[in-house]
Order: sequence, then C-alpha cells, then structure tokens
Amino acid sequence: MAKTPILFLGATGYIGGSVLSRLLSHPSRDDFDITALVRSPEKGEKLERFGVKAVIGSLKDIPLIEQLAQNAHIVFSTADSGDLDAITALLAGLKKRHATTNDIPTLIHTSGTGVLTAGDAATKGLGISERIYRDDNPNDIESISPTTVHRNVDIAIIQADKEGYLRSYIIAPGAIWGIAKNQLVEAGVSNNYSKGFRLLVQASIARGQAGIVGKGQALWPCVNVEEQGDLFIILYDAIISSPGAVGHGRDGFYFGESGEYLWYDLAASIGKALVKRGTSKSDEPTPFTDEELAKYFGSKEFGEFFGTNSRAQAPHSRSLGWKPKLIAQDFLNNIDADVELATKNQQA
Ligand SMILES: NC(=O)c1ccc[n+]([C@@H]2O[C@H](COP(=O)([O-])OP(=O)(O)OC[C@H]3O[C@@H](n4cnc5c(N)ncnc54)[C@H](OP(=O)(O)O)[C@@H]3O)[C@@H](O)[C@H]2O)c1
Repeated sequence: MAKTPILFLGATGYIGGSVLSRLLSHPSRDDFDITALVRSPEKGEKLERFGVKAVIGSLKDIPLIEQLAQNAHIVFSTADSGDLDAITALLAGLKKRHATTNDIPTLIHTSGTGVLTAGDAATKGLGISERIYRDDNPNDIESISPTTVHRNVDIAIIQADKEGYLRSYIIAPGAIWGIAKNQLVEAGVSNNYSKGFRLLVQASIARGQAGIVGKGQALWPCVNVEEQGDLFIILYDAIISSPGAVGHGRDGFYFGESGEYLWYDLAASIGKALVKRGTSKSDEPTPFTDEELAKYFGSKEFGEFFGTNSRAQAPHSRSLGWKPKLIAQDFLNNIDADVELATKNQQA
C-alpha cells in the first residue's frame, strides 16, 4: 500500500517539534512518508536519522513550496502563522494536486489567538475585555477583524476550503508555555521554548525588574506545549478516522486554550524568579516606558501586544476528546523554570 505523503513545515520550531515528535511515535508511523522543509542543513541531516526526508529551503522559496505542496496529501503548517506569500504558494500547490489527481488534501495550519486582539492595543493593559470568542461558533470567528495579525492568512485558507480543493483545519493556540521535552529537542533539532514569551523574560532581566504594559490588566489564554502538541494529533486522528464528522473550513477553527492569565500575574511571577536569582531587588512589576517597549520588543506597537486582551474558549477542540489538564496557575508556577532556561541560554 502506498504511504501517506505528509509535508511538514516548522519541524525545527517549538510547536513543530512537539507535533512532529508525536507523528514519529504515532501508531501509523510506518504508513507516513514525511517530508520536512528546513533551513538548516545540519538539522536536516539529523531529521533524516528519524526517517524524515529533509528538503533544505525556506518559506521564501515560492516555487519550492508549491512543488512540495503538490506532492502532499497532508500538510502540517507550524512554521509561520503570518506568511501570506508562503501560504498562497502552498494553496496553489494543493490546488494543482487536486486538479491533477482528484485528491482532496488536508491542511492543518497553525494560527494563534493573537487574531483576537484587534484594536485592543488601545487598552494597553488598562482593562479586561468582556469579548470572548468561542471556537465552535463560526460567526464569532468570522467577526474577527481581517486586519488583525495572522487573519489574512486564515481567511485565504478558509476560502480555499470553500472552493473545495482541500479541507482546512486551523489550530489557534494562546500563549504556549513549558519547556518542550521530546526526541527532536533532545537531538538538537527543535526549539524547546517559546520565543514570544522569552522576549518578555529577557526584557525583564535586562531592565532588572519585571515589566508590564500599562497596569497589566488584560487577559490572554494559555496552553501547555505538550497538551498543545496532543491537540494536533487528536485532530489529525479524528480527521483520518471520520473525516465527515470533523468541522473544516468555516467550521474548522480550534483554539488551544486551557485557562487565562493576567499579564500582571505573569510579570509578578517573573519578578519573583528574578529576585530569587538576584537579578532584581523587587518582585513588583513596573510599567515599561515607550522607549523600553521599542528597545526590548523592536517597536512600541509590538511591545504593546504584551498588554492586549485575547479571550478564547475552546469547546470545539474539547469536542474532539482533547482534555488539557494544566491551567493558568500551572503556567505561573512554571515560570521559575522558564526564567532559569532563559538565563542559562543568555549565558551560553
Ligand atoms: N509559541 C507560541 O506561544 C505561539 C502561539 C500561537 C501561535 N504561534 C505562532 O506559531 C508559529 C510557530 O511558532 P513557534 O513558537 O513554534 O516558533 P519557533 O520556535 O520560532 O519555530 C518556527 C519554525 O518555523 C520555521 N520558519 C520560520 N520562518 C521560516 C522561513 N522563512 N522558512 C523556513 N522555515 C521557517 C523555523 O525554522 P528555523 O529553525 O530555521 O528558524 C522553525 O522551524 C509562529 O508564527 C508563531 O507566531 C506561536
């Protein structure tokens, strides 16, 4: 029997490593023919040892993306939630596949609950939004502003599903936390930490005190990296076992969420970890100045993202049988380990 051709984007990443490592130990592993696009030849070589075909290239190699997509029945897209050019090429390749083989490929794409922050930087950590989005309510999802981060990509994907040449499933995690532990991390292939969260920790270390945007009064969803990895595989298994029963396209949005944290509480936990290491004298978070936001986050506008509201509930993901157990307090309790890793990496 022919193996299932799978294209994997983002294998060396924090999310991608946790998903690909699960595919490598999946009961149907022997039926998978996995191709991963990677930028680093060294990491590509390591991946080959896991029986993954590594193609060296970038999301910027548009003809390559199109060609790889044309060969894939299943695509896991975990590299970049916001690269419209790459997704357009991916969709073009999948469309050609459909036109030439009649196959209806499956695209599992990673977005993020950043899509829910439209206009919210205006609150700058000054108040909790009452607007909560549910992933089982397509009208809720369609009401998201097309101008928010990641949203143009999600819209293009949902449109492709509507045209009928593929089935799309969008997983949108909140802030993913925890130090990823899997065979690809151990092999030096994949990241074990979240870069967005790391920025916040590094900014706090650099200024010698935990920082908040405004008063830190805004909420975000969070999810543990291992439980987030599980959601991808639970969704994949559901699609394979009963494709007709799993919502796709307009009905195919799945949040990764198992609790909400207040930005102030997150900063206070970082503050405690800094005091413990003598990096800060006080664990009391103080507001970032505009200059600090620009300095530590690249721009004031991007820095203010760390004070937005993003409120999501994931009954759709849970309806697949996903049962995340770790809540926001677990995230806060784990901050010390994250700060330890960030400190070590900085010294390395
Ligand atoms: N982490 C979170 O909390 C979170 C939550 C929701 C959504 N997201 C989004 O999900 C995506 C992945 O996040 P992550 O945390 O896994 O990030 P990450 O650890 O930085 O991983 C990104 C992966 O994508 C690859 N990649 C990026 N740009 C590429 C390009 N131009 N060509 C080829 N490969 C490229 C990276 O390859 P290299 O190893 O070569 O760099 C890496 O494998 C991001 O768009 C992020 O915004 C993240």
